[in-house]
Amino acid sequence: MVTTHYHEPVLLAETLGHLDLQPGSVIIDGTLGGGGHAQAILERTGPNGLLIGLDLDAEAIREAAVRLAEYGERVRLFQSSFRRIDDIAAEIALTPIDGIVFDLGVSSHQLDAPERGFRFGATDGDSAAASETPLDMRMDGTGDRPPASALLATWSAEELEKIFSKYGQLPGSRRLARGIIARREAEPFETASDLVGLIRELGIGRGRRHNPATLVFQALRIAVNDELGALEEGLQAAIRVLRPGGRLAVIAYHSLEDRLVKQTFRAAVKGCTCPPEWPACSCGIKPTLSLLTRRPIGPNEDEIKANPRARSARLRAAIRLEAA
Ligand SMILES: C[S@@+](CC[C@H](N)C(=O)[O-])C[C@H]1O[C@@H](n2cnc3c(N)ncnc32)[C@H](O)[C@@H]1O
Repeated sequence: MVTTHYHEPVLLAETLGHLDLQPGSVIIDGTLGGGGHAQAILERTGPNGLLIGLDLDAEAIREAAVRLAEYGERVRLFQSSFRRIDDIAAEIALTPIDGIVFDLGVSSHQLDAPERGFRFGATDGDSAAASETPLDMRMDGTGDRPPASALLATWSAEELEKIFSKYGQLPGSRRLARGIIARREAEPFETASDLVGLIRELGIGRGRRHNPATLVFQALRIAVNDELGALEEGLQAAIRVLRPGGRLAVIAYHSLEDRLVKQTFRAAVKGCTCPPEWPACSCGIKPTLSLLTRRPIGPNEDEIKANPRARSARLRAAIRLEAA
């Protein structure tokens, strides 16, 4: 079995347990990354189970293809957003699906590769080491969406403030947004150190527990990749392609992602969208999911010690109900 250091899979045993893997299962990994979850799934679905792997990032697809080569025809990989999960399943005439996993966010490899511009220094706690890496942050490298530098060059103060406060919960969001507008004409924000320099100069979030630059970079990454929009669409698409009895497992790392997963699952469990005061249902929308996890599952102390990036992981899982 080939293993790599591209990314350490998080909550592995818990995720596999909720997918109820069987020999021959057809599973979609919507966030392939280094293929850690995918490889473990292939091991448990042999000899004829099928793994369909998606990732926005061409580099992740290339790495995972090497790691998973030994499974031959049992692996199909696509460079695509998980927003398109149902199109892809239809394209290769493989529906319905037995299980789907989303392990959200970025991989360790993406975080650690300076040219991708996902972080600002040697370590997140080391703002003094802010680098000359470009402010890009697109998971698909180039793609249709503009890089972070373009957002900083064109968005209004209100738009910038909204993403810093909503996605980063950054104290001083308005001050930073205004500071960016005031500076960008004369000095465009092109590298990580351009932005970190301004955060430091303005004293944004000084003395807070979380490094303010970490919060700003996280907020920009979520906006650049429309991560919450993709998750919303991806979850609906996943529910559509699962067979009755099929499993959906989602690992979130940000409270807004986890809330979206929780709310989407809750709405699918309820079905009917009629106002509660109505005497009878007139919408006819039936429940499509039943919860497997009442509360999200987090990593234990051992996993956090071995892999500190797992700290904020939250796993939720659900089972697809019979179509009504
Ligand atoms: C945390 S990593 C997954 C790691 C993987 N489970 C493993 O064990 O190696 C998240 C991956 O999801 C990808 N990704 C993020 N958003 C995506 C989307 N909307 N569609 C497809 N891939 C996405 C990222 O490019 C990254 O490679």
